Amino acid sequence: MAQCLGMSEQSPVAIEVDSLHKSFGNVHALRGLSLRVPRGSVLGILGPNGAGKTTAVRVLTTLLSPDSGVAKIEGHDVVRDAATVRRLIALAGQATAIVLELTGRENLEMMGRLRHVGREELAVRVPELLDRFDLVEAADRPAKTYSGGMQRRLDLAASLLGDPAVLFLDEPTTGLDPHGRLQMWEVIRHLAAQGTTILLTTQYLDEADELADSIVVIERGQVIAEGTADQLKDRVGGDVLEFTVIDREMVDSALRAVASLTDGEPSADADTRRVTVHVGARGSQALVDAVRALDSARIAMSGLQLRRPSLDDVFLAVTGHAAEAETDGNGRGRRRGRRNAPAPEAA
Ligand SMILES: Nc1ncnc2c1ncn2[C@@H]1O[C@H](COP(=O)(O)OP(=O)(O)OP(=O)(O)O)[C@@H](O)[C@H]1O
Ligand SMILES: [Mg+2]
Repeated sequence: MAQCLGMSEQSPVAIEVDSLHKSFGNVHALRGLSLRVPRGSVLGILGPNGAGKTTAVRVLTTLLSPDSGVAKIEGHDVVRDAATVRRLIALAGQATAIVLELTGRENLEMMGRLRHVGREELAVRVPELLDRFDLVEAADRPAKTYSGGMQRRLDLAASLLGDPAVLFLDEPTTGLDPHGRLQMWEVIRHLAAQGTTILLTTQYLDEADELADSIVVIERGQVIAEGTADQLKDRVGGDVLEFTVIDREMVDSALRAVASLTDGEPSADADTRRVTVHVGARGSQALVDAVRALDSARIAMSGLQLRRPSLDDVFLAVTGHAAEAETDGNGRGRRRGRRNAPAPEAA
């Protein structure tokens, strides 16, 4: 919750975005995106595939010009003062920027030279970063021999060489295994504790929950909800119980059997026969009650579990529909979420 302390003359806001629009042909990727990130805090931008996360990051890191709207980093306009902005920021993107033929050490040295880090400083910083990112043993192997998680960590290490005031991380853990994910979280937490302002994008509520002081949920290039992870989870209403009904004919009976476990209404996916029940703070008691209720109604089920709310649950709570990916302009869309949810209005 690092707010800027003291009455510095500079604005305490590190990232300020006002009504950004960006289209690619007929795909309106950003539709009036606005957000603010206090200096020294971590903002998580949470959204499904195609929500506009990378587009927003590319505009904020001067890689793309917006069609309209204003974005400022530490008070500097990303379009008019792009050169100044570039000196203040670093980006670890969805695709890494490392050179696979070079070793980890060589990658860091090269990036340092590109960022005008002096020879003496590099001699200190490179071993320090290799150590901090758990890459000492692999330091002198070509990066192409690294796992995905190691490549991500090297990329992030390289981005830190210019001591950025503001760091952009675009889906830093997508594609990593659970261990790689936890390792990356550790590194990001460490950076946040040192006071770096961080904007990270993610598709996972638990990741935003772990790392971010505050979260904006975006869909189709607009903010549809914002707050802390707890505030968003409150909107979902606590834990979610799920199970699969074995016999398709019994889905409706199952919904009736578990209706008393929720203040809302249980829902079922007609295709997968997966039943979802928001059980609030009932916790593991809900599991016991569900087993009893289904058993006494003689309904066979499998895969019963109690889980914390996901991005899909937040979407469902906020919008009344599951997270849906934007089509790519050719009518192709990567869909996520429940297929029986009503489709969102085309905007
Ligand atoms: N260069 C481009 N040309 C055409 N369309 C684009 C381009 N870049 C992005 N888009 C479109 O803009 C929309 C937003 O894309 P963006 O990459 O910002 O989404 P995202 O939230 O980062 O998704 P993901 O989670 O898949 O990375 C999508 O519909 C995408 O197809
Ligand atoms: Mg992206």
